[in-house]
Amino acid sequence: MDSVSPSILQFTQFESQALGQQLIDKALYYKADPRIDIQKGMGKRIGCIFLNPSLRTRVSTQIAASNLGVEPIVLNMDKEGWALEMREGAIMNKGTVEHIKDAAGVLGTYFDILAIRAFPSLTNKEEDMNDFVFSQFVKYSGIPVISLESATRHPLQSLADQITIREHSSGIKKPKIVLTWGPHIKAIPHAVANSFAEWSLGMGHDLTITHPAGYELSEKFTKGATIEYNQKKALQDADFVYVKNWSGFNDYGKIISTDPSWMLTEKHFVNAPNAKVMHCLPVRRNLELSDEILDGPRSLVQKQAENRIYAAQSVISHLI
Ligand code: CP
Repeated sequence: MDSVSPSILQFTQFESQALGQQLIDKALYYKADPRIDIQKGMGKRIGCIFLNPSLRTRVSTQIAASNLGVEPIVLNMDKEGWALEMREGAIMNKGTVEHIKDAAGVLGTYFDILAIRAFPSLTNKEEDMNDFVFSQFVKYSGIPVISLESATRHPLQSLADQITIREHSSGIKKPKIVLTWGPHIKAIPHAVANSFAEWSLGMGHDLTITHPAGYELSEKFTKGATIEYNQKKALQDADFVYVKNWSGFNDYGKIISTDPSWMLTEKHFVNAPNAKVMHCLPVRRNLELSDEILDGPRSLVQKQAENRIYAAQSVISHLI
């Protein structure tokens, strides 16, 4: 991300193919024997700070930490913490009670690692693109930070997705991966789509992105991908199809289309008979993705969710 420099002491984005391969190898090592390194993190503590809801990220990160002997403590900031002021120099005479400088500083003394979820506003593009809220935690905590999904990226999800692709790629030399937009009724962040594109391209895969006109993602994440507006053409010969909704990026945070023909059913796979289908969950059934696909043999969604544990375990192990 722009305002947070990549460092070995953070896990906020894709850094290199070599590190990506190393993290996938380690994740599969832990998957084979989850508590093999139970002594490694004894005496250490990870603070999992949620400014937004979560099921998978919250639970998988706690299990991953426990598998390494690291004590996880979860703080749901929206319900359990004080209302935070993020802006420098603010006169705090309105609704906010504690400044991020003070809160993050305190958390930095309580934990060895912080893990933060901070979604975008989808109204202030510049602040979102700079991961403003997430970056304030990084700046003031002074300890290693893991992204549990920021405004721009969801790297633990992307690592779990790459683990899942590796596990299901045997016999495929260079898998064709398609990221397809799916319909939704709400304005959804870009983080999963951005991050999936960034990791797939970074890991050297052949990536095609398909969406209705107007849903172009930031080129910062998609440079090197084939952009194909015809979904049928894009899906031809696909090995993996990743379904995700996102809102407009150029027309920031807007819903431009809800065209139901973009929701995948078996009919969409006539030219990709062996394609596997992926989604990060949660998914709105029969809006974003059909029951037929989610409950059928193409679906890898449960496997992706399971791999969230080993993605997190690999990263926590790397940082400690
Ligand atoms: N995929 C994912 O991040 O799920 P949660 O929002 O439930 O954590």
